[in-house]
Amino acid sequence: QSPVTAPDIQARKGVDDKICCITAYDYPSAMIADSAGVDIVLVGDSLAMVVLGHRDTLSVTVDEMVHHTLAASRGVSRALLVADMPFMSYGTVERAMETAHSLMGRGRARAVKLEGGTAVVPQIRALTEAGIPVMGHVGLTPQHVARFGGFKAQGKSVEAARALIDDAQAVEEAGAFCVVLEAMPVECAQLITEAVDIPTIGIGAGSVTDGQILVYHDVLGLFDRFVPKFVRRYADLGEASRQALVQYCEDVRRGRFPGDKNTLYMPEDQVAQVRK
Ligand code: KIV
Ligand code: NA
Repeated sequence: QSPVTAPDIQARKGVDDKICCITAYDYPSAMIADSAGVDIVLVGDSLAMVVLGHRDTLSVTVDEMVHHTLAASRGVSRALLVADMPFMSYGTVERAMETAHSLMGRGRARAVKLEGGTAVVPQIRALTEAGIPVMGHVGLTPQHVARFGGFKAQGKSVEAARALIDDAQAVEEAGAFCVVLEAMPVECAQLITEAVDIPTIGIGAGSVTDGQILVYHDVLGLFDRFVPKFVRRYADLGEASRQALVQYCEDVRRGRFPGDKNTLYMPEDQVAQVRK
């Protein structure tokens, strides 16, 4: 199968089969996602929370994103690998260019994502003109959690919904190849999806978007601090892992592990020779 490109994704606007996206942060998660057939693997800055254990996404650095993006890149063969630009790493066009260079050069990402609408138009335009495919992200933008006063759904009033439509259109006009819509009423996501000619990728935005994205650890039950209403858990690998390790400890403590099959033996005559 040939690798998915940003233009491939952009061409799927309004097409029946939905764009399937998930986050991943290292070689095994990216490899599992890729072999499951997802179209986009996003090394999200949710890394900060679900992998590094921080309370929000604000403290993750460009170097940490590069480190994890490079690891994820080794597990991906078909999916489009996108990396998040971390908090305060794209405040100016110059910073945005440097950050994207790091993520795509050292990190081997094939596109970048940044949060915001009208406020980040110059950055999206400059990156796109430099040949860097950009994924937009509007609605609940977790890097604005302090200003929002928490992880709260957006676009819930008439003015707020209109502002989100403006943001998505600005992102499109600046050159983004698709846009994430996070945590908003489905009607708002519908209006945006109709208002732009690039695919919308929803998370907590209902089923009307051109694609969906979720966080790997949420889908697989590997993050237990909180589970947003919009998540569907497809497995409980956290509990399955815990049970497996309880069993392992029990076996070690009772001398049941390692067993015969896990043990290397020396021929008996050799043992006798060593003893001499
Ligand atoms: O960081 C992340 O995981 C994201 C997706 C949820 C869109 O930005
Ligand atoms: Na993110």
